[in-house]
Amino acid sequence: MNIDPELGKITLRQPDDWHLHLRDGELMKHVLPATASIFRRAIVMPNLNPPIASIQAANEYRKRILSSIPKGVSFTPLMTAYLTDNSSSAVLEKGYREGVFVAAKLYPANSTTNSEEGVSDLRNIDSVFETMERIGMPLLIHGEVTDTEIDIFDREAAFIERCLVPLLVSFPELKVVLEHITTEDAVQFVKQSSSKIAATITAHHLHINRNAMFNGGLRSDFYCLPVAKREHHRLALRKAATSGLPCFFLGTDSAPHERRMKESSCGCAGIFSAPFAIQSYAEVFDQEGALDRLESFSSEFGAIFYGMPLNQSSITLIKKPHLVPDVYPLKSESNFLVPFHAGETLNWTVSEQ
Ligand code: NCD
Ligand code: ZN
Repeated sequence: MNIDPELGKITLRQPDDWHLHLRDGELMKHVLPATASIFRRAIVMPNLNPPIASIQAANEYRKRILSSIPKGVSFTPLMTAYLTDNSSSAVLEKGYREGVFVAAKLYPANSTTNSEEGVSDLRNIDSVFETMERIGMPLLIHGEVTDTEIDIFDREAAFIERCLVPLLVSFPELKVVLEHITTEDAVQFVKQSSSKIAATITAHHLHINRNAMFNGGLRSDFYCLPVAKREHHRLALRKAATSGLPCFFLGTDSAPHERRMKESSCGCAGIFSAPFAIQSYAEVFDQEGALDRLESFSSEFGAIFYGMPLNQSSITLIKKPHLVPDVYPLKSESNFLVPFHAGETLNWTVSEQ
């Protein structure tokens, strides 16, 4: 990594995105270039409809992604298996050993977008956890309880206490990524856990707290799951991301939903952050005086956790203000995505050369 404070220029190892929603079909073709032009690899979430739960489905989905990558761009999608109550240990082990599945994703049933077929009770898939622990296959967790009696802002902390702690008592060697953490509780938990436990942190949870959703009106663009929390949680996340601790690494959770799907009486959860993600993280690290730690967070700790080689290519960021467009167009004018930071000025730009 090379930082030139005078020129306002940073060259860093090419980053990877360890948590990404690429969707499928036309939408995937539209959003993929935003990620593939910056990130070398990405962990692709399996919450399609129907979910990616078999080796064949993952192989076919990967092929569709690969055939949509713009010419001349090197990008590797890393596929994940969607866990259900009926997941088979044998299929997961085969898929992992063949290099089709890099990890498996646990969605508690009804916790988020397309999670209806997720796991209704963790005890239902004990044998799957046992296999994953034995073969070293990472378990990626959407860490929220779904009990409607638990306040939505407490669901992550409740998950850690009620589900994650007992899971790790039963399977102490299981490799776990607690995805898109949003609370000080999660930061503390991951920090005091063994090196088998890590967490991804999104750019949006570093920038916004829960007020963003209610700023002068109901703002669906800032609604995502887990939902943004109070300010002290955001500050704890910023400290964790910029701490230089290897258990915290980049995962955008970029989750595109067309505007009409977000702006409805029951709007979808998800923030589309892919187009300006690395710039958004750079802004945070700059504000925290930690630009020297951006590279390890964005380009090294994740690969080390997953046991993958570090990227040898690099990207250059320049301190040059630019306005983020209000919309990210899709095929028709009435149909578009709103990128995270829409209408705001970001201070870091990715250099084209
Ligand atoms: C994600 C989506 O839309 O697929 N939404 C979100 O708010 N993050 C699912 C998820 O990661 O929870
Ligand atoms: Zn996600």
